[in-house]
Amino acid sequence: MCGIVGYVGFRNATPLIIDGLQRLEYRGYDSAGIAIIQDDAIRLSRDVGKLGNLRARLERQPLAGCIGIGHTRWATHGVPAEHNAHPHISMDGEFVVVHNGIVENYLELREELSAEGVVFQSETDTEVIVHLVAHFAHDGAHGDVTEATRMAVQQLRGAHAIGIMSSRQPDRLVAVRTGNAGGVALGIGDGESFVASDIPAILEQTRQMVFLESRQMATVFADHHVVQTLDGESLSPQIHQIAWDPVSAAKGEFKHFMQKEIFDQARSLTDSIRGRIDFEREEVLLPELNLTAEQAHSLQRLVTVACGTSYYSGLVGKFYIEHMARLNVEVDYGSEYRYRDPIIDANTAVLAITQSGETVDTLAAMEEARDKHATLWSIVNAIGSQAMRVADGYITMNAGPEIGVASTKAFTSSIADQYLLALRLGQLRGTLGSEQRRQYVRDLERLPDLVGRTLETFDAVDQLASYFYQYSNFLFLGRGINYPIALEGALKLKEISYIHAEGYPAGEMKHGPIALIDEQMPVLAIALRDAVYDKMISQIEQAKARGGIVIALATEGDTLMATKADHVLYVPETPPLLSPIIAVIPLQMLAYAIAVRRGADVDQPRNLAKSVTVE
Ligand code: AGP
Repeated sequence: MCGIVGYVGFRNATPLIIDGLQRLEYRGYDSAGIAIIQDDAIRLSRDVGKLGNLRARLERQPLAGCIGIGHTRWATHGVPAEHNAHPHISMDGEFVVVHNGIVENYLELREELSAEGVVFQSETDTEVIVHLVAHFAHDGAHGDVTEATRMAVQQLRGAHAIGIMSSRQPDRLVAVRTGNAGGVALGIGDGESFVASDIPAILEQTRQMVFLESRQMATVFADHHVVQTLDGESLSPQIHQIAWDPVSAAKGEFKHFMQKEIFDQARSLTDSIRGRIDFEREEVLLPELNLTAEQAHSLQRLVTVACGTSYYSGLVGKFYIEHMARLNVEVDYGSEYRYRDPIIDANTAVLAITQSGETVDTLAAMEEARDKHATLWSIVNAIGSQAMRVADGYITMNAGPEIGVASTKAFTSSIADQYLLALRLGQLRGTLGSEQRRQYVRDLERLPDLVGRTLETFDAVDQLASYFYQYSNFLFLGRGINYPIALEGALKLKEISYIHAEGYPAGEMKHGPIALIDEQMPVLAIALRDAVYDKMISQIEQAKARGGIVIALATEGDTLMATKADHVLYVPETPPLLSPIIAVIPLQMLAYAIAVRRGADVDQPRNLAKSVTVE
């Protein structure tokens, strides 16, 4: 949700940056700030709340200069406050930084820098970046902002989009992208250049753009830019001509919205997590849920109602809530719930999961629960939707607009929301020890980076799609917490490529579906290194013994799998509870790549609508 806009050229940077930030307002933020080099020195202006507050401040104390960077911030580490708003400035006043993402190791870095005498002005994770840049500028980089930034970024864990400016070199901005904490676009104008986290911020100014990939950085001057890898290798990236029409513009560098949304997931998950965790105390905060400790204790049951992909998300959430909060969870289809006279009482909470917040079956299930006096919660993506309005409490997914009919980023964000809900319930019910809770919070912090690494497997997935796109049937197998991912993988393939696919709990194979296996029915087995790994190996062997073709989704470093399956896709090792979020990504990409090869209408598959508002 954070936004970055930078400018270097011949015009006054202030109005251009503020205008760009305004265009990113839809992403949501709680404070904003700008830094301009004026009279050879960096000047800052920052304020909480809407951009109007920053504008008013700039009217009272104007800033003018031909280079600057600005930011809209959605708080993660440190409350929304002027001193926590970006840009952050170094102690010598010579460097400023704006940043999207989470510095996972900021506590260690903060301690090291404090020991060197750095006095921090904010509670943010971001501030360590600017002090590191200043440190390396004085020690090793000979004052060069690009080199100092490169050295600083090597110290950071996590996924980041970063903008840096230095009063020592007032002719350039430095931009960095590592992982997928949102994009970095360079806008090429006539004698002027722009940097932005999102295309719409600068589209009014230029249509020529360059996009940084992960582990790339750019030094941006008014009339040219230099792009390199973080290892210093020079690159000549393609210049994209962006169309004016807002729909194509929103798609940016991607062919389809679905592809964009798949690749948006490190960013969207960061936004789902941000603001919900007190990283100092490693506690979860979900104020909009309106959940008291007393109510958490008195709950005896939670019923999740949802449809389609959101239903599968609920199946994953069941594992979280039962495990962390020791609360019995049932998951029901919204479309079935009210037709079976469900047992609900005042000690039952009903949780509706819905991306659109307008799915009529889910809303009807909520009504049923309301009539029977259950506590009603929702997890929604569409802000202000019906499911959010009628609930007693809610958690927003913060995934941003999902336009592709096939749900991708809302799925992973709604799983992350349930992980937070389970932590909160476990915290209040006293079922989670503090050390365990801290560990689960730390695991969550690593998630965006793991997602970024998983997205890097796209080429391997696409190659697999080239072997399999002409098949007519597919079987997806999973077990335990990844059984719902087998269901979701099959649904994705069905809905956008029109290939018949079934998801099955692997242990049930021998009770019937194994009869289907032959060389015409590829089997995709989710076989990560976890508690059911050995069982999955045995399922793979059974499928192979019957002439099946097996594609395994395995954990990086699992060399045994290559000897068992015909094809292996590797994902990074992930804490088991978070593995569904990682495992689903290659399956989303596979469905997408197969559908593209079949020439299907990926974003608007036949017979389907994004919001199902009829029964
Ligand atoms: C997912 O790819 C589907 N398009 C569909 O199953 C969807 O998840 C379902 O209709 C529920 O929608 P909702 O989350 O907006 O309620």
